[in-house]
Amino acid sequence: LFAWTGSAVAIGAVGAGGAAAVLSPAGAASPAPVADSPTLPGPVPFHGIHQAGIATPTQGHLLLNAYDVPGTVTRAQLTATLKAWTTTARSLTAGKLVEQDPTISVDGDPAALTVTVGIGGALLDRLGIARPGPLAELPAFAGDELEERFSGGDLVVQLCADDPLVLAGADRALRKAAGATVRPRWQQAGFQGAAARRDGRTTRNLMGQVDGTNNVSTSERARSGPVWVDATDPGWLTGGSYLVVRRIRMLLDDWEKTPLDHQEKVIGRHKHSGAPLGSKLETDPVDLDARRPDGSPVIPADSHVRLSHPNPGEEMHRRGFSYRAGILPDGTSDEGLLFLAYVKDPTTSFVPVQHRLAQHDALNAFTRTTGSALFAMLPGITGPDDWYGRALLS
Ligand code: HEM
Repeated sequence: LFAWTGSAVAIGAVGAGGAAAVLSPAGAASPAPVADSPTLPGPVPFHGIHQAGIATPTQGHLLLNAYDVPGTVTRAQLTATLKAWTTTARSLTAGKLVEQDPTISVDGDPAALTVTVGIGGALLDRLGIARPGPLAELPAFAGDELEERFSGGDLVVQLCADDPLVLAGADRALRKAAGATVRPRWQQAGFQGAAARRDGRTTRNLMGQVDGTNNVSTSERARSGPVWVDATDPGWLTGGSYLVVRRIRMLLDDWEKTPLDHQEKVIGRHKHSGAPLGSKLETDPVDLDARRPDGSPVIPADSHVRLSHPNPGEEMHRRGFSYRAGILPDGTSDEGLLFLAYVKDPTTSFVPVQHRLAQHDALNAFTRTTGSALFAMLPGITGPDDWYGRALLS
């Protein structure tokens, strides 16, 4: 599912010096890549009907930034910031060093950098713009232990790349380009296993499970389906999407003490192969009707895959990353999953699925959700004159 389909073309471009050469601030060509060094996949196209970073095969690293916009900021100031972000992101994703980058990423290529921008409901309210129905506040879910410092936000910038150094440079540059119009609210860093990117295998999460098998895929060209807003109401979001963010801590000390057969019943899949219980291959279909000789379901009633399996209309495109945020005062580690889901309408997809999981999922014994946010992700930048939020603000 995370197969990288464009690598041959993109690697060729970097090897030919196209993307690498423009990185040098003095205009001198960067050193040629060493023959046997691992090659990064080069630039991801910036322009399109959708923003890059949603259908784009998941890169190795994530920096997710939420910002607040102070109440004193005018619409004109917000417009100026979104225009500055567009110019900066257009250059960075093409591998061009921008003046705000303190040369952090000068030695790299763009490493498939994508910059994906969204807006929160409270900011729309303050701007006097009607909130689309799907951007209603997420309801409270049973068991949530949300912390303000990991939740909410007026704007979100999802940065993804295969090189964390490139992400650092892009992050600094975009922050400086925004000036005083925005205030950082929270930042989450995540990563994926390299095997996913290298071999097209499904990545594992920090519980050791193969995670992302039955995902809903989408494409840069699709105009409808479960991810993209295709309605004309509101017209400013056509071609956009909604992003649900959930910061889910894993209680790994408890999980690792749990016997393998119980771990597998919690998820409903075998841990090593990722195959559904009762099957052999990761790609085998999940048979929710299969019964044991005693009549009990092969895939338990409270298993994660049974409860999360979408009814028609509940489909989500999951684009999650693992996170490791250090050691808590009690000596346990704060690590887990940054669950990111892109959907056409969270009220009919994420919300009903999450209510089911919150009430019955056996996985809840091993997880704590500490952060939550919802954003309307803007449509794509269609050309050189376009900018983030043009249809919303002009
Ligand atoms: C499936 C892990 C949270 C939605 C899976 C699978 C794993 C997994 C291992 C099976 C492989 C696959 O098909 O991807 C986890 C972990 C979570 C978590 C460790 C928390 C730490 C969530 C949340 C949601 C969700 C919060 C949505 C509200 C799904 C869906 C599937 C899935 C839709 C596919 C089910 C199917 O159709 O077979 N998850 N998940 N997961 N998960 Fe999660």
